[in-house]
Amino acid sequence: MSHKGPYNAYVSAVGHYFPDKVIPNSYYESYLDTTDEWIKTRTGISERRFLEPNQPTSFMAIRAAQMVLEKRGISAEELDAIIITTVTPDMFYPATAVIVADAIGAKNAFGFDLSAACSGFIFGLATAIQFVQCGTYKKVLIIGADKMSCLADMSDRNNCVLFGDGAAAFLLEPTEDKTIGIIDQILHVDGSGKDSLYQLGGGSLNPPTHETVDKKMHYIYQEGKTVFKAAVKGMADISAEMMEKHNLKPEDVAYLVPHQANMRIIQATADRMGVGLDKVMININKYGNTTSATIPSCVSEYYYDGKIKKGDNLILTSFGAGYTWGSILLKWAI
Ligand code: UT7
Repeated sequence: MSHKGPYNAYVSAVGHYFPDKVIPNSYYESYLDTTDEWIKTRTGISERRFLEPNQPTSFMAIRAAQMVLEKRGISAEELDAIIITTVTPDMFYPATAVIVADAIGAKNAFGFDLSAACSGFIFGLATAIQFVQCGTYKKVLIIGADKMSCLADMSDRNNCVLFGDGAAAFLLEPTEDKTIGIIDQILHVDGSGKDSLYQLGGGSLNPPTHETVDKKMHYIYQEGKTVFKAAVKGMADISAEMMEKHNLKPEDVAYLVPHQANMRIIQATADRMGVGLDKVMININKYGNTTSATIPSCVSEYYYDGKIKKGDNLILTSFGAGYTWGSILLKWAI
């Protein structure tokens, strides 16, 4: 993709929020046939965060948004648009973007939710970029937020240990400098994985009934091994493709920012790109798989730790339900 808009979109501020409640692997050891050792070696996860049951996804999205506004030093009234990527909206409608806009006082913005599972943030960012590149909007907030604890069957050891709750956000603004900001995107969707990872109940196919609840159809269903194999190939291929397309050598890449589903998938992607783990953003050990929040929360944490410099090339890459997968090349501008 080479865009034709008059501007580049750049990330002008970042923010993140994770709930206070830490759920260590030992929590699952206490009631499931699992061990801290299995979870750590098979996934890379040591602990994750859970919201309280009565706190919705917007609780985290609001806080991530407020951090972005504070760091950028602007008021919510300056926002033109709010896009929230999530598979765990507060409600099917109104969009969680409406709830967040109201809570932070974004009186002049429009907004909507976007659903692409673990590729949500990449697809959302690709969408948000368009509004900015063409010059129509000047301040677009994109938030990845998911409360996965409400979709995980806590009696299923295959799934519940993998997920956590979190939110993170980017503010996008236009620049006339075409050498910085979001440089390129490669996005894909195909239905080959639609039977391997899904939530069957609650939508128009299987509206909620006592039966859908009894059959646990409102929880995440995942064939872990099938998705794992597809993710290893999909993430590695698309990251390598982005490097080849832009003639980037491993030393030209400051960071790979991969979706955090499994440390072994992350390692395989880094190996294929020829970059060491010192060049890979990782926070799966602390938070597990937070779906839409994994990629922006890594960037936000690394940025505030002083680990990203202006001019750094970042390759953001995701893979998830559908399948959906994508990669974005970003030259850091702040
Ligand atoms: O973000 C969305 C996209 N998702 C992904 O990209 C990743 C999805 N998949 C995975 O991360 C991995 O496939 C898992 C972590 C879910 C599983 O790892 P695996 O290496 O694929 O293990 P496996 O499926 O081969 O399972 C090995 C064994 C099984 O036992 P049997 O059938 O060999 O007796 C599982 O029942 O490990 C068992 N197992 C567990 N054992 C202890 C599964 N979960 C657990 C557990 N504790 N929590």
